This record gives sequence, structure tokens and C-alpha cells, in this order.
Amino acid sequence: MKKIKKIILKKNKSKIVSLSVYSKNTARIADKFCDLVLVGDSLGSVLYNYKSTKEVTLNTMIEHSKSVRQGIKKSLMVVDMPYNTYRNPKEALKNVKKVMLKTKCEAIKLEGGSKIKAVIRVLVKNNIPVMGHLGVLPQTDKSFKFKGTKNVERLKILKEAKLLEKLGVFSIVLECVETSLAKLVTKSLNIPTIGIGASNNCDGQILVIDDLIGLNPISLRFVKKYSNIAKEISKAVSNYSKEVRTKKFPQKKHSY
Ligand code: KIV
Repeated sequence: MKKIKKIILKKNKSKIVSLSVYSKNTARIADKFCDLVLVGDSLGSVLYNYKSTKEVTLNTMIEHSKSVRQGIKKSLMVVDMPYNTYRNPKEALKNVKKVMLKTKCEAIKLEGGSKIKAVIRVLVKNNIPVMGHLGVLPQTDKSFKFKGTKNVERLKILKEAKLLEKLGVFSIVLECVETSLAKLVTKSLNIPTIGIGASNNCDGQILVIDDLIGLNPISLRFVKKYSNIAKEISKAVSNYSKEVRTKKFPQKKHSY
């Protein structure tokens, strides 16, 4: 609970740095610089090439989260609950308890607003820290077009954000939300918003590690590539390949 409070207290003070990672070695690096580390179900498309996150299973999330846990010491570790694992309060409680027990994460994230009201209520009642997710909802949305151009849509997102806060979530991810709406939602809440494609009006930001380091070849408008790690890996693998073929590697020092 201490780590959750720390995140909430950052609102209006300092930006919350978050990253979505899937394994120990990247988690270890993220942990040095981030306040919050998410094991995102985006791993379905980023790692497994699934058409949507709908195909991600609870066990896949648990195994990746167990790996991530090994790399996290100080940041808040949040795990995404995959599609169809929180369709009703009973199912949600059973699956969330399993995830928390097996992965030792400190919080979970769920996508949606009023439709999962009863689920959030039960989890919060059981002292489980819940992170919300509004805007584009990859688990259920048919289109990934950014949200907030139409007035009905704007009012719905604002209303749902207020509802999530009232239900007791400690923070909300805003995914692909129009700039002025992200500002309005952020200003209307006492809990922090974490944006991805939702402008710098949010209390924090989140990106997927593979996108940020330039490992994922897919380019999205809201991603800034801070390095081109794919090029570095290519260089290394190419050198390795040349040296094996020319018998330059392994040398005596690499042998027993
Ligand atoms: O699955 C994920 O990685 C996410 C973040 C992008 C917010 O939900």
C-alpha cells in the first residue's frame, strides 16, 4: 500500500514514469528509472504476434509476470488481467487472487468503466489495488482510433473516469485520448492519470519497452523511439555470424 500511496501523492507534484515490460532483464532496467512497471497484455501482439490481446491467457500473464518480478525492487508492479478473466465478480476475484499470489505483484489493471463496476467494487472491498484503463480498450474495441472527438464519447469517458475514482481505483490509464479531454479528465480527478497517446496533460506516461527502444518494427504516432536497438542487435548478430563462419569465434579464452 505504501507504493500505491506514493504513486497517488505524485499527482500535481511530479510526473509518473511508467513502462510496460515482459521479462526480467528489461524489468531490471525499467525498475531503475520508473515509478510503475506494468506487465501489459500488449505482449500478445508485441511478443506473440496475436491478432488481438483477446488471445492472451491468464497463464501467459502469470509466467511473464513471474519473470518481471525478478527484476523489480523498488517500483510498483502492476499486472494486466487478460480478456475474459474478469467477466463477473466471482471470476475476477478468483483470477486476481491467483495472479497476485503467483506473481507477487502489488496491483492489477482492468479495462473498462461502468460495465465492470461490480467487479471493481468486489476487488477493492477485498483490499486489492486496482488500476483502471479508459479510452481505447484493446481487449474489446473494434477500432483503435483515438477517442474524444465526439461529445457523447467525451462525456462518457469523463463520467467513467469519475466512476472509477469513486469505486476506488488508485490510477487510470488513458489510452489514445484527445488532448483536451485528457486534460479535463486529469483535472477532474484526485487520482493520477497515466497517458499513452493521451498528451502531456496526464499525470504520468506509459510506453511499451519494445517500442521505446526500437525493437518493435511497427511504428505508432504516440511512440517515441529513444534508441534503435534492432540495429544494434543486427550488428552484433551479423558480427557473430561472420566470426563463426571464419572460425574467429570461439577463441581459446572462450573454451575450456
Ligand atoms: O498492455 C499494455 O502494455 C498496456 C499499456 C500500453 C498501458 O495496457
